[in-house]
Amino acid sequence: MKNRKYKRILLKISGEAMMGDMRYGIDPSTVDFVAKEIKDAVSRGIEVAVVIGGGNIFRGVEASLKGMERASADYMGMLATVINALALQNFLEKYGIPTRVQSAIEMKELAEPYIRRKAIRHLEKGRTVIFAAGTGNPYFTTDTAAALRAIEIGADVILKATKVDGIYSSDPMKDPGAKKYKTVSYIDVLKMGLNVMDSTAVSLCMDNNLPIVVFNLRGKGNIKKLIEGKKIGTLVRGNNATRAKKKDH
Ligand code: GTP
Repeated sequence: MKNRKYKRILLKISGEAMMGDMRYGIDPSTVDFVAKEIKDAVSRGIEVAVVIGGGNIFRGVEASLKGMERASADYMGMLATVINALALQNFLEKYGIPTRVQSAIEMKELAEPYIRRKAIRHLEKGRTVIFAAGTGNPYFTTDTAAALRAIEIGADVILKATKVDGIYSSDPMKDPGAKKYKTVSYIDVLKMGLNVMDSTAVSLCMDNNLPIVVFNLRGKGNIKKLIEGKKIGTLVRGNNATRAKKKDH
């Protein structure tokens, strides 16, 4: 198919993205919007895998800072991602997108277990695969799960959905002089401590040369634009061509 930069993508959606403007939980209209954006990609013949966070329901790191044992808190966070995965599956299927949820923690009544080869087969058959329960291990974030799964399934790119339209030199909400990067190298993300994904996730992408595009999920049609090769957001890739451009909004 023409106008298609990627064949197989891994979309990373944070749990917070599922709550829209609410302070907690799942906002159906937001999930509906995300489902439509994914549908747009699937209808263009793109194979879509999704890793979803759980921070709209439970944040393991925060709970551990407030005295909870980290491993238990992280397992609770993983369960939260399963709830989000089932919600997204529901909305995708409403739009006729065949979807499979695979969980890194076995819970057969709710979802398939994570089986790499089966996930790839689903994608080849045009099914969207949602990976739930992170990596199945405490101390690893869902960003790291996204990097790991993307590499395992041979995705061409990680599309990391955020609330801002790319990576900035500092917080654009607080610093009017913040500059947006068009491209940035993995090593600069790590060295400059840019707030993209945690260092484990970025290192994994760097070691396997997997590009990451950070973009604003709220922009209608953004996934489609990225698939068509339009240069929106910030591309993280493996050279030193870190280029900033003036803040453009
Ligand atoms: P093919 O093998 O390509 O036909 O894939 P399929 O997913 O359609 O076939 P399968 O018979 O494996 O699955 C049929 C349905 O059962 C799908 O909706 C799967 O998501 C679901 N399913 C398969 N394995 C499990 C499982 O272990 N737990 C749960 N909850 N559902 C499962």
